[in-house]
Amino acid sequence: MKRSEFLKIMGATALGAAFAPSILANGKSDNKSRIEAHIKDLKASVKKPVTFLVLGAGNRGNVYAGYAQRYPDCMKIVGVADTNRLRLENMSNEHDVPQENRFTDWKEALDRPKMADAIVLSLPDNLHYEPCMKALSMGYHILLEKPIAPTEKECTDILDLALRKNAFVGVCHVLRYAPYFIALKEIIDSGEIGRLISIQHLEPIQYGHMAHSFVRGNWHNSKETTPIILAKSCHDLDIIRWLVGSPCRSISAYGSLTYFKRENMPRGAAERCIDNCPYESECPYSALDIYIKKRKHIYAFDLPKERSLQDDAIRQILRTTNYGRCVFQMDNDQCDHYVTSMEFENGVTANFSMEAFMAKGGRRTQIMGTRGEIVGDMSTFTVTDFRSGKQRIWDARVEEVKSYVGHGHGGGDLCLVRDFINAVGNNDHSYLSSAIDVSVESHIMGFKAEESRLHDRKVSI
Ligand SMILES: NC(=O)c1ccc[n+]([C@@H]2O[C@H](COP(=O)([O-])OP(=O)(O)OC[C@H]3O[C@@H](n4cnc5c(N)ncnc54)[C@H](O)[C@@H]3O)[C@@H](O)[C@H]2O)c1
Repeated sequence: MKRSEFLKIMGATALGAAFAPSILANGKSDNKSRIEAHIKDLKASVKKPVTFLVLGAGNRGNVYAGYAQRYPDCMKIVGVADTNRLRLENMSNEHDVPQENRFTDWKEALDRPKMADAIVLSLPDNLHYEPCMKALSMGYHILLEKPIAPTEKECTDILDLALRKNAFVGVCHVLRYAPYFIALKEIIDSGEIGRLISIQHLEPIQYGHMAHSFVRGNWHNSKETTPIILAKSCHDLDIIRWLVGSPCRSISAYGSLTYFKRENMPRGAAERCIDNCPYESECPYSALDIYIKKRKHIYAFDLPKERSLQDDAIRQILRTTNYGRCVFQMDNDQCDHYVTSMEFENGVTANFSMEAFMAKGGRRTQIMGTRGEIVGDMSTFTVTDFRSGKQRIWDARVEEVKSYVGHGHGGGDLCLVRDFINAVGNNDHSYLSSAIDVSVESHIMGFKAEESRLHDRKVSI
């Protein structure tokens, strides 16, 4: 099924019918049948598997390559590159990749003649531009992780080359593919809440995730990767732009790194939590608490499969890598609170906040229209009609759809792969809603937000 047809199914008429009996009183929703149809359609409709070379067999590379295990007649992994030999071998073995197509660096893989229809480009942020340009020049289509590239110029270079080569570049703005956000957009576009006036959107990074990714982890330094407004929140700017349906006219931003720095370190704190830090038992950012006691974020570690060996392996990681360091003694510079205000060409305004200091993750959104409002938290949303006072719920937590929507980004990860495969396999751009052109637009919003924050002024786009 084409994305446009799917959107029709998720569209105003269907939503009206599906929502009609969903009343808050019993807390139940009846979005089940539409989502069930969508689950069936997780399978791409292609005549033969689209072949892929994966550059970067880490966390994201494995998420996307996982689609090939689920639907081997739609996707086949024929080559893998990763500098980490364990990851290289694990992914290669899982997909029966021939020895000659296992590479220890992306350059080695692209020095070889074109070997697949497309590339999953899931390398670190600072390794997107060069491989992407090279792969495009070789004629590959690319499923490109966000952020597209660290600078505006590099993003537009990729766009220009993709257009010249007529290549499919699907940017992994996975929220656009999540049933939750698709349903939100369809309600806005149907006019059910009247004319869209304003949006408030919140991305609670969550205190532990902030410490893991943006204080200790891969994205702790904006100069080595990208500023957090892109590294974390290009998704949010993109989804706001998509919901509003109009280009952004101007943006202003405020924020800073307030807490995770040396001046806030309690006196006498150890360099590593594991080194008998006197504050370990009370610090919410204790690495021992996050990784060993709560076992959060350990997907980022290459751990032995046997559970009994894992704690020792984590302790070793905490002794030797940034993940064990005190959050007040890193060389991090990413903001821990960041707010932006935007005005769009159609007059709609939006506020976006990205916040580290929250207990629970899950994006929260309020959408204000002239006849009604929508309030949601990424697992459910409630539509309220002002005149009748009636409320209806869209709920992704109902048992029947939980396993599906429970996949990364509210189901968006797998739907993105499906749509990319459909685009390449059927030579049809219309399957992709996060193609490179629209994705560059929302990235530019991020670059301009950062310009506004750093220079303390509103920036026109
Ligand atoms: N779409 C999303 O929601 C989302 C979520 C998280 C991360 N990301 C983005 O995805 C990308 C990958 O992130 P990740 O979390 O998978 O990171 P990761 O560290 O788990 O994976 C990156 C892999 O690239 C490998 N690598 C590094 N240099 C290499 C080289 N020269 N040649 C070959 N391999 C090399 C690393 O060994 C690692 O296995 C980043 O750009 C990140 O910002 C996107």
